[in-house]
Amino acid sequence: MKIVQLTDLHIGLEGEDTNGVDVRGNFLNVLRHLRANPPDHLVLSGDLCFRVGTPEVYAWIREQLADLPVPIWYMSGNHDDPEMLARAFELDGGFMQDGELYYHAILGGREFIFLDTTRYEMSETQFQWLRDQMEGRSDTLLVFMHHPPGLIGVPFMDNKYPLRNWAEVQALFLDYPGEVYVFSGHYHVDKSVHLKNLHIFVTPSTFFQIGQQAAEFRVDHYRVGWRELVWSGDAFQTTVRYLEP
Ligand SMILES: [Fe+2]
Repeated sequence: MKIVQLTDLHIGLEGEDTNGVDVRGNFLNVLRHLRANPPDHLVLSGDLCFRVGTPEVYAWIREQLADLPVPIWYMSGNHDDPEMLARAFELDGGFMQDGELYYHAILGGREFIFLDTTRYEMSETQFQWLRDQMEGRSDTLLVFMHHPPGLIGVPFMDNKYPLRNWAEVQALFLDYPGEVYVFSGHYHVDKSVHLKNLHIFVTPSTFFQIGQQAAEFRVDHYRVGWRELVWSGDAFQTTVRYLEP
């Protein structure tokens, strides 16, 4: 089973200047690749919109995805509006809970948890739901969340834009009796961090990648990236891919 994770699309309105990057073109180029190499599932892990949730942008994205014969799982990032997003993609009540878009789903026989960190933290209700999902389990936990649950050694993002309650979320995962794999975005980098049983994989954006050393904002490069998660039987492997220039 192969899952493709696309993240931080940051699509703007038609004609809008998105920092000089053709984000719509980037997205269409990735979709061209996915049509030729379809995965079993596609996850859009938040920040679909350039700055704020916009119905026209969600409608445009939906139109582009219409002929992709792959189940798609939607998540909201800090540059999205989860309720607007859920309406635009007709996600029914099972996905939205008290204004947050979090749910669990079975993909290729494996259970996944999708969290909503739009507001730079999870509500107490969502956090309790997560605890309930983990209760009594010790199998490998597979989680998608827009913000990584921890600092990951990218000073600009760690200092300015981390998940507010990352320590609390990380402690919960570190307490889990099994392995925890978390697939995130938000940082616009390709990086993974491993802390005991917790494995955090951060996926690059389709917009631009951020410099990993500097404390101030710096673009690292403009190659368009995504992540592939592949299971062959029980063997798992994950790889970041970039579009050929
Ligand atoms: Fe983000």
